[in-house]
Amino acid sequence: MFIQKAWRTAAFGLYGFTQFTKSGFAEHAKKFREEDMQIRLDGKNCLVTGANSGLGFATAEGLASHGATVYMLCRNKERGETALKQIRSKTGNMNVHLEICDLSSINEIKSFTTRFSSMNKPLHVLVNNAGFLEHKRVTTPEGLELNFAVNVAATYTLTELVMPLLEKAAPDARVITVSSGGMYTEPLNNNLEYRESDFDGTKQYARNKRVQVALTEWWSEKYSNKGIGFYSMHPGWADTPGVSKSLPGLSEKLSGNLRSNEEGADTVVWLALQPMDKLVAGAFYFDRAEAQKHLKFAGTAASHAQIGSIVDSIRSICGLQPPMRR
Ligand SMILES: NC(=O)c1ccc[n+]([C@@H]2O[C@H](COP(=O)([O-])OP(=O)(O)OC[C@H]3O[C@@H](n4cnc5c(N)ncnc54)[C@H](OP(=O)(O)O)[C@@H]3O)[C@@H](O)[C@H]2O)c1
Repeated sequence: MFIQKAWRTAAFGLYGFTQFTKSGFAEHAKKFREEDMQIRLDGKNCLVTGANSGLGFATAEGLASHGATVYMLCRNKERGETALKQIRSKTGNMNVHLEICDLSSINEIKSFTTRFSSMNKPLHVLVNNAGFLEHKRVTTPEGLELNFAVNVAATYTLTELVMPLLEKAAPDARVITVSSGGMYTEPLNNNLEYRESDFDGTKQYARNKRVQVALTEWWSEKYSNKGIGFYSMHPGWADTPGVSKSLPGLSEKLSGNLRSNEEGADTVVWLALQPMDKLVAGAFYFDRAEAQKHLKFAGTAASHAQIGSIVDSIRSICGLQPPMRR
């Protein structure tokens, strides 16, 4: 067990330092095809969470520059308005809008989706980007562990509640969830809110990101007949406000070799643009290609069998109806 964990950490470090960096992106970009990014999204509605900063901002800007109607979901009105103005002025696209919702609150997500759904518009692309790493164990006013609330409960609740809008856009609807390479270090774990006394925020974040990858697989299987594509991805290591705040050590160590926000968001935008028959349902993507979900000999693969019971727990924590009833 200890040896396997040590191996996982070492293999992740080596993989990360060679591939997740700016130089890794430059190497992978040699294989990118220019024509992949020449697709337009005019008339398509995209919802991007955490769109005022870092990768979410770069994603919203990227989608807007391809002509999409973009809904930027942000928790802070001021930061959201500043970002909205910047994206409108940089892209010249006025079909970019701001939505306010604090994703750490299930009740706020429910109110937001009721409001958003009343527009009765098809949703072609949902990008679950908002993410968070809190090192201390903090509980939200609704009683949820904070990392879990933003990274897992919000991803699940928002996606499930906008499913009818995604169905309206089928067979060209997709859900792109921004996970992290950090998930390679953790198997799926039933202890969703990390109730042990040795709380470790980095580990909890990695566990959350593993849930997002397994959840994407699960959605893809569950909703295979709905014409909705589910993909998870990881951006590599990018120089965002989130990274410099939560992982200052990584920021310092990789100074000059972290990806730009646009490089980190590149695969998200690419996934939004590609014809769905070119993409693999339920897959995990990195630098415009399908990537492994597990490192060799890491012992994380078998844990994905638990996803059904984990989804039941998330659904019950979030107070949602079983999906079969829809
Ligand atoms: N950057 C990397 O190297 C890297 C690597 C792997 C994975 N990721 C993933 O990439 C995604 C984006 O991260 P980033 O690096 O761009 O970080 P970031 O700059 O901190 O951006 C995170 C965004 O999420 C928003 N957010 C956080 N909590 C929220 C909440 N409760 N409700 C609504 N929005 C909330 C933030 O809003 P505020 O500005 O108001 O805080 C911000 O807009 C995350 O899912 C992260 O896990 C990033």
